[in-house]
Amino acid sequence: MKISPSILDADFSKLGAELDSIKTADRIHLDVMDHNFVPNLSFGYPVLKNIKFPVETEAHLMVENPEKYFDDFSKLDKIIGITFHIENTLDRAVELLKNIQTRGLKAGITVNGKTDVSILSDEVLEATDKILLMSVQAGFGGQAFMPEVYDKIKSLRSRGFKGEIEVDGGCTLNNAAQLKEAGADILVVGSFLMKKPAEDRAGIIEEFQGV
Ligand code: DX5
Ligand code: ZN
Repeated sequence: MKISPSILDADFSKLGAELDSIKTADRIHLDVMDHNFVPNLSFGYPVLKNIKFPVETEAHLMVENPEKYFDDFSKLDKIIGITFHIENTLDRAVELLKNIQTRGLKAGITVNGKTDVSILSDEVLEATDKILLMSVQAGFGGQAFMPEVYDKIKSLRSRGFKGEIEVDGGCTLNNAAQLKEAGADILVVGSFLMKKPAEDRAGIIEEFQGV
């Protein structure tokens, strides 16, 4: 199973060492919160713009008006994709996905933990490169995993979706195998990895990759 650590729980006072401790991960996940779409506030382009990342990065935009972020986020180091939420973009999701793809990036649609996947129309499924399925309600790291996500993955696969399915929230080595079995390709891992000592992280990443 591929792993994409979220740096939401990283210690930004020593970010270089934190990034070095996760350099064997498949991808790095950037949780962008605007204190509007979600109650919490994290970091934005001004904080991220000079960071050199060890592996490819992807932005998870938990924001109002995600399109306002595309120009800046396309410029981040090693950025390969941008995902935004369906809940506040129902009227224009396909247009926004195409906007991201025009920049040479993978476009992703995110479904919040309490949102049913039936919100995704066939048009959106066809337009999107990937689906980020949240297994918590967006806004905070360290929340309990919602097992409803297994059926959500299966339902998307049964509708014929062949793009990447990534699961985000409460992912651990205890649910990784079952998530893979259900049809997930990659897991976002925040607190389970970043709350462990830096020297233990390479081993944990290897364990995920062995699932
Ligand atoms: C929640 C974020 C997640 C989360 C992951 O709003 O999108 O990426 O921080 O952290 P854990 O693994 O601690 O749930
Ligand atoms: Zn996320």
